[in-house]
Amino acid sequence: MNADIREMTIGDYDEAIALWRASEGVGLSEADERGAVEAYLAANCGMSFVAVDAGRIVGAVLCGTDARRGYLHHLAVAESHARRGLGRALAERCLAALVAAGITRCHVHVFAANVRARNFYAAAGWQHREDLVVISKNT
Ligand SMILES: CC(C)(COP(=O)(O)OP(=O)(O)OC[C@H]1O[C@@H](n2cnc3c(N)ncnc32)[C@H](O)[C@@H]1OP(=O)(O)O)[C@@H](O)C(=O)NCCC(=O)NCCS
Repeated sequence: MNADIREMTIGDYDEAIALWRASEGVGLSEADERGAVEAYLAANCGMSFVAVDAGRIVGAVLCGTDARRGYLHHLAVAESHARRGLGRALAERCLAALVAAGITRCHVHVFAANVRARNFYAAAGWQHREDLVVISKNT
């Protein structure tokens, strides 16, 4: 795999946001500003991870829960490290953290046009829900 996976801290923010910005298929918003990510990590301690190779962050994922279901956000692996199992390993670490917290199901929002991510999740056994649409509103 050529990378170590460890918990994400706010100290990883600059590298993680750079990776997400460079990753087609990751949609960023005001919820990804430093303060918001810091609050997210604090509220979901030990659930988000980075993959590090030679001191450089080459993969990152946010994970959290609403105390009912789990959610993955922004799973991304650097192109230099693609197809080495890192994405799957990061997602599995999140799922293990959710299991430890007693959360039995996890969801992820994927842009419909993001075929690569859809293939990735299908290969890892995630279920594409044909029966749901996402409905959103600004508060
Ligand atoms: C999706 C993503 C995280 C996958 O990371 P990765 O480390 O390359 O994936 P893995 O090596 O763990 O792949 C595991 C399996 O998923 C499937 N898969 C991964 N990438 C694939 C691709 N481009 N096409 C088809 N299947 C793919 C394969 O079955 C693969 O196993 P294999 O390599 O033995 O065939 C990565 O492509 C990425 O960062 N994409 C851009 C950001 C993004 O869209 N993230 C999703 C936001 S929700």
